Amino acid sequence: MNSPVMQGLDLNTPSYVKHAKLVAWVADMAALCKPDNVVWCDGSQEEYDRLCQELVDAGTFMKLNEAKRPGSFLARTDPSDVARVEDRTYICSEKEEDAGPTNNWMAPAEMRKTLQPLFDGCMKGRTMYVIPFSMGPLGSHISHIGIELSDSAYVVVNQKLMTRMGKAVYDVLGTDGDFVPCMHTVGAPLAEGQKDETTWPCNPETKYIVHYPETREIWSYGSGYGGNALLGKKCFALRIASTMGRDQGWLAEHMLILGVTNPEGKKYHVAAAFPSACGKTNFSMLVPPAGFEGWKVTTIGDDIAWVKPHEDGKLYAINPEAGYFGVAPGTNYHSNPNCMASLNKGVIFTNVALTDDGDVWWEGMEQDNNGVKPDHLIDWRGNDWTPAIAKEKGTKAAHPNARFTVGATNNPALDAQWDDAAGVAIDAFIFGGRRSTTVPLVTQARDWTEGVYMAATMGSETTAAAFGAQGVVRRDPFAMLPFCGYNMADYFQHWLDMEGKLEAKGHTLPPIFCVNWFRKNAEGKFVWPGFGDNMRVLKWMIDRLEGKAEGEQTMFGVAPTYGEINWTGLDFNAEQFATVTNIDKAAWEQELKSHGEHFDKLKDKLPKQLEETKAKLEERVAAL
Ligand code: GTP
Ligand code: SPV
Ligand code: MN
Repeated sequence: MNSPVMQGLDLNTPSYVKHAKLVAWVADMAALCKPDNVVWCDGSQEEYDRLCQELVDAGTFMKLNEAKRPGSFLARTDPSDVARVEDRTYICSEKEEDAGPTNNWMAPAEMRKTLQPLFDGCMKGRTMYVIPFSMGPLGSHISHIGIELSDSAYVVVNQKLMTRMGKAVYDVLGTDGDFVPCMHTVGAPLAEGQKDETTWPCNPETKYIVHYPETREIWSYGSGYGGNALLGKKCFALRIASTMGRDQGWLAEHMLILGVTNPEGKKYHVAAAFPSACGKTNFSMLVPPAGFEGWKVTTIGDDIAWVKPHEDGKLYAINPEAGYFGVAPGTNYHSNPNCMASLNKGVIFTNVALTDDGDVWWEGMEQDNNGVKPDHLIDWRGNDWTPAIAKEKGTKAAHPNARFTVGATNNPALDAQWDDAAGVAIDAFIFGGRRSTTVPLVTQARDWTEGVYMAATMGSETTAAAFGAQGVVRRDPFAMLPFCGYNMADYFQHWLDMEGKLEAKGHTLPPIFCVNWFRKNAEGKFVWPGFGDNMRVLKWMIDRLEGKAEGEQTMFGVAPTYGEINWTGLDFNAEQFATVTNIDKAAWEQELKSHGEHFDKLKDKLPKQLEETKAKLEERVAAL
């Protein structure tokens, strides 16, 4: 194919790209964004190494100590660009009601008018990278292809680790395959001859993360960080994919997927939705504690699941991603040994601290060193850090939302089926928020509708994963509040409808569990040990699946009795158990009132079944 020349700019289209519509789109976007040049990424190791070197030369990357952390880099972002920007994130459906009350909405035509002048010339002085990627195994019938155009080399190298990225995508696309166009710019054009004054160009004033669900397009302006910029992740695999799922009868979820094998060798698959920075990565890599010999947990995914009903009436899940973009602070050999092992080589760290010997550090790592913190570090903003400075000014060495990017194949607990195009049959769903009170350690919904209710009313104390206030309880239904690409009430209905669809195929649905690892005592300390000890709860769930645990009825589903949990190796008495499981009448009266306010916001399209379930729960609370 000829390389079209736009305004003196050679598109450099490689001969293996044979998709006329794609080439025309790239030409249009180059004409709009006016980059200095266009580079088509092939996904090779050579390309990755070259771009990492360019990022080092530009000062964006720092090469870490090759002996301690081979093939790894540290990036520090602009302090204004450290997390997703939910208030700048839009679902631009034709009708406002299709975005629903939980999403920011603007009419597509109006948004296009807003973005046009911003994207006009936005890549001046920069390179436009063409990044082909597949969400899901390459060529699988469940996978979808995206092409991201970005002026950030940081995005390219992250996408190489996070997705199946490269030339082979064009073989799948052929001459007319479907792809989701993903436009991304850091929104910091350079004037003729101007050089970057910063190592993290972005637009501190203006950011837009925009989705057009009908035309399946993504336009992201102004940020270079995480979910704002790696458009395969939240924008595509959740917001756009959830609307595809609505239309096509499947689910795109903010869920980890794990395999759990018992000592007899029987393997189950569990998908769990926890809000951002609430333990998905930890749970997906769980190491069973002493007392669970012969049990094994393996990771299929740590953040996103695409779940599809199959002819056999079961739900099959794949992880559309190929890597982890995980929270660094709090990760250590106690909380997540498999994760620590995954970070030994070939990692991109963002906004963690740098040690004096060229390695990385973050809050929580002191737990692996008898509580001792390093004497000196360079913090995530590039300043000197010492324990004394931290004490005096409260400065964190790593940003609370500091993250690592690493390919899944680094994970020693990677499931043998992680790359299986058929996916794994889901045996149970888990939903869990971060609640210091009210919600018990674990209960099982009595039926599908009650499970959907539990997920729909999930609350969580907000975390550093998104810009804004922290620690405030907000409703985060299905952990999808920031990620559902359509009306949340329609999404609830879509989940409720799964029951009839699967039962029509003669299959019983996976049970739904609700968990909360985060209850605190009067001193403000977590009561439940969490992390590896969550295996105790997971085992009870498997016992329930196998009919080995009867549990007891509570107001909020079926709960384990103290005696049904395996306590081997843990000193946790019945009184402590009561602290994490008791159901407080007054707290639940408040809680249901708050569910009511949440439902009020969604009342235009709220499924009646959820109102009915709430009424039943109110009766149960009244009877306490
Ligand atoms: P995103 O990548 O943002 O979607 O989040 P994630 O759900 O994968 O978050 P991650 O696993 O990285 O969660 C990290 C946070 O959860 C840290 O603050 C951990 O200390 C905390 N955490 C994880 N598991 C547990 C647990 O069992 N108990 C307690 N108390 N904290 C936990
Ligand atoms: C989340 O916030 O849920 C994440 C991180 O997984 S980001 O990709 O930045 O959205
Ligand atoms: Mn996430």
